[in-house]
Amino acid sequence: MAQKKNHSPTVVGLDIGTTKVSVVVGEINPDGEIKIVGVGNHPSHGLKRGVVVNIEKTVESIKNAIEEAEHMSGHEINEVIVGIAGGHIKGMNGHGMVTLREKEVTQKDIERVIESANALLIPAEREIIHAIAQEYTVDRERGIHDPIGIHGLKLEADVHIITGDVTAARNIIKCIETSGTSSVDMVLEQIASSEAVLTQDEKEIGVAMIDFGGGTCDIAAFMNGSLKYTESITLGGDHLDRDIAFGLSIPLPEARKLKENHGVATLKPDEQPSDERIEVRSASGHVPKNILKRDLATIIQLRMEEIFMLIRKELLKQGIIGMLPAGVVLTGGSSKIKEMTTLVEQVLDMPARIGIPRDVTGLTDIITDPIYSTGVGLVKYASLNEGLGVPAGVLKQKNVFTKMKGWFNEFF
Ligand SMILES: Nc1ncnc2c1ncn2[C@@H]1O[C@H](COP(=O)(O)OP(=O)(O)OP(=O)(O)O)[C@@H](O)[C@H]1O
Ligand SMILES: [Mg+2]
Repeated sequence: MAQKKNHSPTVVGLDIGTTKVSVVVGEINPDGEIKIVGVGNHPSHGLKRGVVVNIEKTVESIKNAIEEAEHMSGHEINEVIVGIAGGHIKGMNGHGMVTLREKEVTQKDIERVIESANALLIPAEREIIHAIAQEYTVDRERGIHDPIGIHGLKLEADVHIITGDVTAARNIIKCIETSGTSSVDMVLEQIASSEAVLTQDEKEIGVAMIDFGGGTCDIAAFMNGSLKYTESITLGGDHLDRDIAFGLSIPLPEARKLKENHGVATLKPDEQPSDERIEVRSASGHVPKNILKRDLATIIQLRMEEIFMLIRKELLKQGIIGMLPAGVVLTGGSSKIKEMTTLVEQVLDMPARIGIPRDVTGLTDIITDPIYSTGVGLVKYASLNEGLGVPAGVLKQKNVFTKMKGWFNEFF
């Protein structure tokens, strides 16, 4: 964590994204309020579809983003909570069961029942990133969220288990270590983003959070207050850039700029296609091109429809599409394309809103942006799950450290 004398304990989130690496420094006040005191952001060139493919370039981006965040916050950063994402991540639901030795549920029983769910499902070449209890059953009493102290003979748990490719996880750790800091926990990026943008009510009612970034679309669905489904689709804003560059014969950086400044995901039903043109540099670099805004919109709409039809198919396959009355919350940089919610509401046939980091204070003028949802969410996750109101460094608690240690030992 970050260290600075006479300050509240701090946690640092490191989001290694496909297009940018961002670092978010949060101070945790004794009452649990999170104040964002530093942010670092640097373009990322070492990832493909959410996965590190070039250590050197990634290390360079991490170093730059950390330096910026240290400078802004005045904290020295020694430890971070890092996000993990990509197509290698698999989420599945398991079930565990144990007999109660003390005839009353203890913390130890909770650990045992979650472990028993893990043991059934995990292939040897994968590593568990999270095992999150959804609900417990004590004897025949179902739907219990906090079973400690309840009397009974048998404890069961429904558990959402998230596993990832060991190599992808180790490469992240290697990048962090090489950049001169260390990681105390690794958190699935959509869990972090959900922490930043969703309300507890939405999680209770039923909601899907979609973090639409540069290289991936990361999904997390919650029902009855618990995480029920996670999925990652390896399509993102980068694919839109390529479609636009290819379709309009313009260079990639021009395509990205065009998308960010003039792109729309779809036309509103009552809107006429525009004849307006925009002048951009052509691929040859000689004569500028006049692009019809309508052509740009068509290219974006086609790709968007493909991505959200794919998501619709996944949600249908999982049988959860009708169980999300709170609809969809979109975040990540690509959610900033105009009329995103209109398109998503049309394709998924449920309400949609844009999610930005909420319930934090401090540098809100910077972090009130969907690109910071993962970074801020990592800070919130750490403060809620491990480090709330405790001095920096205490995050090295047993469960967290055991998980990371396994990967370190194998790697070094
Ligand atoms: N105003 C905008 N309109 C459209 N797209 C935008 C806008 N601003 C940013 N983007 C796009 O958002 C994407 C980057 O989003 P984000 O920072 O969430 O991705 P990332 O975290 O780096 O990637 P990933 O999470 O997929 O690994 C880029 O494709 C960028 O072009
Ligand atoms: Mg991201």
